[in-house]
Amino acid sequence: MIILKSSDEIEKMRRSCRVVAETLRDVEEIVRPGISTRDIERFVERSIEAKGGVPAFKGYRNYPASVCTSVNEQVVHGIPSDATLRDGDIISIDLGVYMDGFYGDAAVTLPVGRVSPVAERLIRVTKEALMLGIEKVKPGYRISDISHVIQRHVEANGFSVVRSFVGHGIGRSLHEDPQIPNFGEPGRGPRLREGMTLAIEPMVNEGRYEVSILDDGWTAVTSDGSLSAHWEHTVAVTKNGARILTKTE
Ligand code: MF3
Ligand code: CO
Repeated sequence: MIILKSSDEIEKMRRSCRVVAETLRDVEEIVRPGISTRDIERFVERSIEAKGGVPAFKGYRNYPASVCTSVNEQVVHGIPSDATLRDGDIISIDLGVYMDGFYGDAAVTLPVGRVSPVAERLIRVTKEALMLGIEKVKPGYRISDISHVIQRHVEANGFSVVRSFVGHGIGRSLHEDPQIPNFGEPGRGPRLREGMTLAIEPMVNEGRYEVSILDDGWTAVTSDGSLSAHWEHTVAVTKNGARILTKTE
């Protein structure tokens, strides 16, 4: 069941989403060679709490940290550790905030120092795919219109779309209906309606789309060891199109 939100509810979501956006903006300043992913987690926790929010991932299905930090071949759900970032790495940072009854969820992938041309292109194409998907957020379109345009852009650039994780509705729960795959034929699935709130999140691999889960039970990695990128926004469907809630002013 898809839960539509009133404009008051969307304003509340905007507040948790703004904390997500500001934290992701600020974390860019500290990502550099030598920092550990645990340092990033500490920064993120302090930033969210200073703004009056609660880190949403900690304890979610027993996830052990406040943020997901996925480095290089890690796709999603990497767990912060004492391992330090090195020049040339890429890191996906995914975070959720709970505030005043509602969730916000977004992710970015950042270069660490100087990265290879293909890493740079992977990051850019994944972000472009997210933005193209968001352009399909309009009453009348269907969920898989988003999926299709994401897949098309990714594959036109020679990369592949992860199949085993999907975007999702979001609101009073972190994960609500509908599921939003990042691949598929257009014109399928629920029709978009004003008041829907969606977390759209393409995960894109440099090589093949298959992923494996590490023994920690969480970390998803590319099965072929190739690089992976992840971008996510929480958006609301308005009559004029998407309002990106996880954006700074
Ligand atoms: N943004 C991701 C999602 O929507 C991460 C949440 S999973 C967690 O599924 F367990 F880490 F919280
Ligand atoms: Co999400």
